[in-house]
Amino acid sequence: MIGNHDNRAAFRTVFPDHPVDGNGYINHGETIDGVRFIYLDSVKERTHAGHFCAARRDWLQGELEGCTRARIFLHHNPMPVGLPAEDRIALVPEDRPPFKALIEAHAARIDYIHFGHVHAPIHGCFAGVQFASVPSTGNQSIPDLNETELLQGAPMAPAYCVVLIDGQDTTIHQIPFAWDGPVMTAGTGWEDWAKPTEAAE
Ligand SMILES: [Fe+2]
Repeated sequence: MIGNHDNRAAFRTVFPDHPVDGNGYINHGETIDGVRFIYLDSVKERTHAGHFCAARRDWLQGELEGCTRARIFLHHNPMPVGLPAEDRIALVPEDRPPFKALIEAHAARIDYIHFGHVHAPIHGCFAGVQFASVPSTGNQSIPDLNETELLQGAPMAPAYCVVLIDGQDTTIHQIPFAWDGPVMTAGTGWEDWAKPTEAAE
């Protein structure tokens, strides 16, 4: 997948065998255990904001209509997340309503929407579909619900996420891979403490 720091033409040169859609966007999908994993290209050259034009929406519509279950991945947050400065580089306002309408129309078959870009764990529901973002493996953003111009970031602990998928069920773990401090290890000792009353009976 590509994000706002990537160049589509360069990507295709370096990864010539990577699947693309009929228009050359890095849109592709694969079916795993009956679920269509759909990977979107939300990039436009020379802007950090997300774009998902009519041609890409047509492709996504075809993917959604052609499957029974789907899970969507894209770089940009396709919705504003309530952070005015960050929302300036979300999916651009003109592309939001048609994208949302497309998701809403197929919400019953979409298990999750996963995205990055925001450098923070943000979770919610959009057009009837649950969504989650991920922290950054580099610098983190600090949510500021009032700032309208400047992105606020800090070198806080990086992380990535591991998504466990079981059919339509989703479990997301945030892995603090850079932690090098102490780790306390404890046994559960179920038989010792979990059922004292039962043991006493
Ligand atoms: Fe980004």
